[in-house]
Amino acid sequence: MSASSDISGRAARAAALEILAAALSRRAGLEAALSRAAVTGLDARDRAFARALAMATLRRLGAIDAALQARLAKPPPEPVLNLLRLGAAQLFVLKTPAHAAVDATVGLAPKPFRALVNAVLRGLQREPPQLDDPERLAPSWLYARWRAAYGEAQARAIAAMIAEEPATDLTPREPARAAALAADLDAEVLPQGTLRTARGGDVAGWPGFVEGAWWVQDASAAVPVRLLAVRSGETALDLCAAPGGKALQLAAAGAHVTAVDRSGARLKRVAENLTRTGLTAEVVEADAATWDDTRVFDAVLLDAPCSATGTFRRHPDVLWVASPKDVASLAAVQARLLDSAARRVTPGGRLVYCVCSLEPEEGEAQVAAFLARTPGFALDAVAPGEGGAPEASLRSDGTLRILPQHRPGGADGFYIARFRRLPDQARA
Ligand SMILES: C[S@@+](CC[C@H](N)C(=O)[O-])C[C@H]1O[C@@H](n2cnc3c(N)ncnc32)[C@H](O)[C@@H]1O
Repeated sequence: MSASSDISGRAARAAALEILAAALSRRAGLEAALSRAAVTGLDARDRAFARALAMATLRRLGAIDAALQARLAKPPPEPVLNLLRLGAAQLFVLKTPAHAAVDATVGLAPKPFRALVNAVLRGLQREPPQLDDPERLAPSWLYARWRAAYGEAQARAIAAMIAEEPATDLTPREPARAAALAADLDAEVLPQGTLRTARGGDVAGWPGFVEGAWWVQDASAAVPVRLLAVRSGETALDLCAAPGGKALQLAAAGAHVTAVDRSGARLKRVAENLTRTGLTAEVVEADAATWDDTRVFDAVLLDAPCSATGTFRRHPDVLWVASPKDVASLAAVQARLLDSAARRVTPGGRLVYCVCSLEPEEGEAQVAAFLARTPGFALDAVAPGEGGAPEASLRSDGTLRILPQHRPGGADGFYIARFRRLPDQARA
């Protein structure tokens, strides 16, 4: 819908309202809503506008809410609050013409709330709010955690990335073809071969997709497998594999890959990705903590389930659905999975643990506790620049804490640690 210049964009705005409500109500609600019939039933222009509006709202949600709170005597019902959020994003982020933004938003409100919606949006129009203060962009509990973990300046820099729209990163199947693919895709080649492009639209239509020449994978997400440095013919286990970006990297490097995940639905995506890229792996549906397979592997990757707070650039909803309780319960799951992963490493073999979380309980603290209870393993320090990781992310113990601002243009937040199983552990 061209800049949404008239109020015939009702269906698109209604879809944006549905996306926003789903995104804020549960984990992974955003992705599910984006692909739901009400959204996909729209024409391409309206669908793009609905998505852009919902994402713009989520990327500035904290600041928008602060501006709305200042104008509301008491919180309105959630659907009305969501409409006001969308109205503010249209006015100040997408810069939709004011009459369209206000009239269409008022038109979607339940009758008893129309005057309120109109008054609040007109009030904001008269006195435009400041929506760029980084501290306002994150939920206050998360901002406080980041400040405690990384200091004020880094916490502000993390939060400033929330408002940024990210480029798309791709991993080429054959690193030697990176330069040629970059030319086809108008992409920049990042250290170690990740391709970064500002292209828009459906990736399935981009050059090289159909023949499986690349897959979508954030620059930070491509680092853990590079640190395993698998050689052709080695065995590699990916214990939490779906949708498969890291398993594809392992297979592309020539390893015999076993890809485990407990979600059958998500494993279908691994299978599709393998088919598209022509790569192979043994795919196993199992709980990685209890999987009754006694094999050991040269290289084991545990990309553990986590709060995913580091992925807010593409999934700003994660910031608003995560809770301190989730961080604690996920940390317990990660510890169990890490013990299971360790049992499956061959003596002398490598283990990489990673999470796309910014929370120390899921990263630094997890690794310290693992080393304290697991005598047969030692940290294998990452060298500066190894795996294409930004140098600023290397910690003194040789693990990586990648913050979103560590790479120009941004990248997902990750924590990554590499261990070696000591050779004498076999005799223990
Ligand atoms: C961070 S994602 C993995 C992303 C994947 N490594 C990639 O690069 O595409 C975490 C995965 O862990 C899976 N998972 C969660 N708990 C699990 C368990 N107990 N056993 C096996 N898989 C699990 C989830 O289904 C999810 O697919």
